[in-house]
Amino acid sequence: MKALVLSGGSGTRLRPITHTSAKQLVPVANKPVLFYGLEAIADAGITDVGIIVGDTAEEIREAVGDGSKLGIDVTYIPQDKPLGLAHAVLIASEFLGDDDFVMYLGDNFIVGGITGLVDEFRTEHPDAQILLTKVPNPTSFGVAELDENGRVKGLEEKPKEPKSDLALVGVYLFTPAIHEAVRSIEPSWRGELEITHAIQWLIDQRKDVRSTTISGYWKDTGNVADMLEVNRSVLETVEPRIEGTVDESSEIIGRVRIDAGAEVRGSRIVGPAVIGPGAVISDSYIGPFTSVSEGCRIDDSEVEYSIVLRDSSITGVRRVEVSLIGRNVQVTPAPRNPAAHRLVLGDHSKVQISS
Ligand code: DAU
Repeated sequence: MKALVLSGGSGTRLRPITHTSAKQLVPVANKPVLFYGLEAIADAGITDVGIIVGDTAEEIREAVGDGSKLGIDVTYIPQDKPLGLAHAVLIASEFLGDDDFVMYLGDNFIVGGITGLVDEFRTEHPDAQILLTKVPNPTSFGVAELDENGRVKGLEEKPKEPKSDLALVGVYLFTPAIHEAVRSIEPSWRGELEITHAIQWLIDQRKDVRSTTISGYWKDTGNVADMLEVNRSVLETVEPRIEGTVDESSEIIGRVRIDAGAEVRGSRIVGPAVIGPGAVISDSYIGPFTSVSEGCRIDDSEVEYSIVLRDSSITGVRRVEVSLIGRNVQVTPAPRNPAAHRLVLGDHSKVQISS
């Protein structure tokens, strides 16, 4: 069995925070979201992985390399334009050959991996298997309609009037039957060859298309609250480890990972939290659910429930909370306006003034 991972895309749909980067490289607990997918694939026993790359190919190649550090063997498949998920299957047909494969969208995050799913597919071997999850906003997804036996009856891509709240998750299991399907469909109104259409084609040909419904799913939508929440849930599983240096006046409490080359001085870190390689934390408090990426400097500050991306600094600020801070950002206190109180106070007054 092989894997086809989609990390293409033009970059025009990206959130502002990743304008210099591929959305598949958005870090969750200091690790690109794409890596969780690749690790899940490796854990499922799949080593032969094709990665579709587009405009951001260079960044993806730099991050993933030949895949050996993740225990996989990567073949890069360039896609000139993001012409759709089914188009990606079309251009990968030589790589995929006659093998079954899992197709994994590089910006999707599945809590708990895909091993169970892949094993089930290997045993049951339907023509295709899709993953579904309940979402509050089905119009932003592919949506499935199931019959009374739970079989997939129909699929629609980003429907205006969704027939259910079951969204397609970006993990699909296919037999080679999908190749004829992707060759048989036409581009949609948005000019893309839709994988939902290809799967619908299989259903119309009376092929066996099954679904599994999961919970514990996240996709990078550019929504900061969701990103902080997935960061929180992953931090809860982080293995506590101190590889950097922590001086005697510092206190580390709970599930905290301090990566090699990081330095903690005169600070208190309450986990779950991760401090990336080479980061320096001095005279500060880092509270639960915080990811500080490599090369950051946090001095005389308090940071909690936040993500701080590479090479940023926070100096003399308390307190930063529920925040997403990009790369190379500098956060400093605003200069204080000279405060003045004009008072006419009667005899024997008692006044409290915050200053
Ligand atoms: O994430 C789940 C959703 O993904 C499904 O519910 C939808 O049915 C499915 O069409 C897809 O919807 P999106 O419009 O959100 O997909 P997006 O354009 O964000 O692309 C998903 C991933 O695939 C992303 O990592 C970029 C990559 N991609 C996308 C296209 C269109 C490619 O590599 N090549 C492409 O041509």
